[in-house]
Amino acid sequence: MAALPIYENRFLDKFSLKGRTVVITGGGRGLGLTFANGLAQAGANIAVIDIAAQPSEAFSSLTYGGQYLYYQADVTNYEGLGKVITQISKDFGGIYGCIAAAGVHVDKPFLDHTPKDLDVNLNVNVKGVFYTVQHCARQMKEQSTGGSIVAIASIAAYKAPAAHSIAAYTASKYAVRGFMGQIAKELAQYQIRVNTVSPGCMQTELLQMVLDEHPERLPLFAGTCALNRIGQPQELCGMLLYLMSDLASFTVGQDFIVDGSSV
Ligand SMILES: NC(=O)c1ccc[n+]([C@@H]2O[C@H](COP(=O)([O-])OP(=O)(O)OC[C@H]3O[C@@H](n4cnc5c(N)ncnc54)[C@H](O)[C@@H]3O)[C@@H](O)[C@H]2O)c1
Repeated sequence: MAALPIYENRFLDKFSLKGRTVVITGGGRGLGLTFANGLAQAGANIAVIDIAAQPSEAFSSLTYGGQYLYYQADVTNYEGLGKVITQISKDFGGIYGCIAAAGVHVDKPFLDHTPKDLDVNLNVNVKGVFYTVQHCARQMKEQSTGGSIVAIASIAAYKAPAAHSIAAYTASKYAVRGFMGQIAKELAQYQIRVNTVSPGCMQTELLQMVLDEHPERLPLFAGTCALNRIGQPQELCGMLLYLMSDLASFTVGQDFIVDGSSV
């Protein structure tokens, strides 16, 4: 029997993102900012896109990796977003990775949801991700360098959460999981790998706003996780690093749940 191939030496070097530019939407704070920090430590150049005029203070203290630039744009503005992504490609000399993390959520009982609530969720979480992925993938195809694209979905796209009422948000996250699977099939021919990550409940500003308003929900959020706690944003970084790296070269069209095991 032929010897099984073994991985060449320096296996861990495959995690290096040195010289690779990753676009992160929603990177002004929260999960996106944490991903920016984590991937920069792996050597990536980071281009953050966010609707906020200024990123949170933590952004300016990030000094790892290579270049680190912030662009203000609304992911729901197709033309404006396209221009910014073209500009990023010029500024950095190409785009290798894309993480679509910009998102919003409306937390109120289904019977109180308005058409506007539905629109807001679908516009940012569905159209915004769709536009981001399309603009980035066009750049990647033009460069002929391949690439890796990840959209942040949610555990809500698997099971209705006990701790909040997010029907419109849940619809948006099911949609993301759905269309990213289709896109993965179409873009694989260009060596562009497309996947999604579905986090459980993570400690970010978004969650904090809910907890500030409803402190009584804390045990519900933590209690629906087998680890009995809320996740920390950096606990998602390993998955993002893997997906952006060459170690994921055969990983396409998958959704990865990172939720401490919801119960
Ligand atoms: N925090 C959680 O528990 C959790 C769980 C599962 C999934 N997610 C998803 O992860 C992503 C990030 O969530 P987070 O907790 O960091 O939220 P967050 O509110 O802390 O950060 C979201 C960021 O997106 C930006 N943003 C919002 N609308 C935008 C727009 N139209 N254009 C550009 N930027 C825009 C905001 O300015 C903000 O910086 C979201 O897609 C969210 O649905 C979060």
